[in-house]
Amino acid sequence: MSAPQELERKAMDHAAEAIHFDKEGERNLATTSYKKAVEILTRLVRLYPDYGLNRIYVQRVMTYQERIKLLRDYEFTNPHPQEERISPNSSSRNKKTGYASLVLREKPNVRWEDVIGLEQAKKAIKEAVVYPIQRPDLFPLGWPRGILLFGPPGCGKTLLAAAVATEMDAAFIPIDAASIMSKWLGESEQNVAQLFTFARETALRERPAIIFMDELDSLVGTHSHEVGGEVRVRNQFLKEMDGIIDKGKNIHVYVVGATNKPWSLDWPFIRRFQKRILVQIPNYEARLGMFKLYTVHFSLAPDVNLQELAKLSEGGSGSDIRDFCQSVRLKVIGELFEAGQANLKLAQPRPISMYDFKETLKERKPSVSPEMLESYTKWFEAFKAL
Ligand SMILES: Nc1ncnc2c1ncn2[C@@H]1O[C@H](COP(=O)(O)OP(=O)(O)OP(=O)(O)O)[C@@H](O)[C@H]1O
Ligand SMILES: [Mg+2]
Repeated sequence: MSAPQELERKAMDHAAEAIHFDKEGERNLATTSYKKAVEILTRLVRLYPDYGLNRIYVQRVMTYQERIKLLRDYEFTNPHPQEERISPNSSSRNKKTGYASLVLREKPNVRWEDVIGLEQAKKAIKEAVVYPIQRPDLFPLGWPRGILLFGPPGCGKTLLAAAVATEMDAAFIPIDAASIMSKWLGESEQNVAQLFTFARETALRERPAIIFMDELDSLVGTHSHEVGGEVRVRNQFLKEMDGIIDKGKNIHVYVVGATNKPWSLDWPFIRRFQKRILVQIPNYEARLGMFKLYTVHFSLAPDVNLQELAKLSEGGSGSDIRDFCQSVRLKVIGELFEAGQANLKLAQPRPISMYDFKETLKERKPSVSPEMLESYTKWFEAFKAL
């Protein structure tokens, strides 16, 4: 066992102990064990900053710390604690419990038009979700319920999923895959089960439900990194996916997953996402569209040539282009502040010139390398299912 794995195992033992004591109402013992788990996980993250599951561990540390605090507050306000027990799943302050705490709150407000390019991906999504919802009778053999969006970072996977939600009259249930893992060990799989039950009930009662799992790879992990609870959550998830594929012939529950590390998914996962869609890096047309979109509110000098910028930014992702436009804008705003004019009401930054764009472009390079792009294409060739 490697050193980080050793630490993981220890942390997990303490966490499991803590949860056990917590359920028994042994607050002091639980607190001690939670603290030990926090201490080890913190050390793990510090010593191995590049370790794959760190994000999950940081979240887990925060959850344990919240729990420690809650147990302490409880002690303080209840001098005779034996009369009543608090369950780890019900916090006196936060009424939102179980699977509901996994559902992200903010509602997306992205329309198809806000997603530039990606015509093939949009078409594939429409075929997979929109048409079966409109005319289920035309699909006697069923249709895919699992849709995987994969591709390089910053090219619109999350954006596309948000647009699906806005454009369809469906209940959109976005889940942060990482937070599933960071919730209470042992209860995560119940949360997953409840989540799917909720989605099915919604679909039966009112309208289609789309469960959106962003950063799916963090839910799957690779086997060598898995720590106890993860295996169960993962299996529960696979089971639930089978449930919506097999039984629910006319139930409109869809799972849309997104990842920029498709190769870290294993076959049981890949198989359940019958529709696999590559969300590609933008081509010239798409880059031009993005430059138009992201400079629409800027004042541009007459020499600015967006076509040329679209050519120069070859290899850049959507988020590269957005960040690029943003930093050019920040540059001229910075000048306004330095000239001491920003607090003069109505003072406006000077128009942005082509020179500004080119200077800023010199300092940037695309965040996606050609080698990376090739790995996506290879993966797509091996597992494609459009
Ligand atoms: N096709 C696109 N059209 C318009 N804007 C885009 C597009 N792709 C990316 N962007 C811009 O980049 C930002 C990041 O994109 P998004 O979060 O969808 O990327 P992602 O593919 O989910 O990346 P990751 O794999 O890192 O999660 C978006 O909020 C948007 O501003
Ligand atoms: Mg994303």
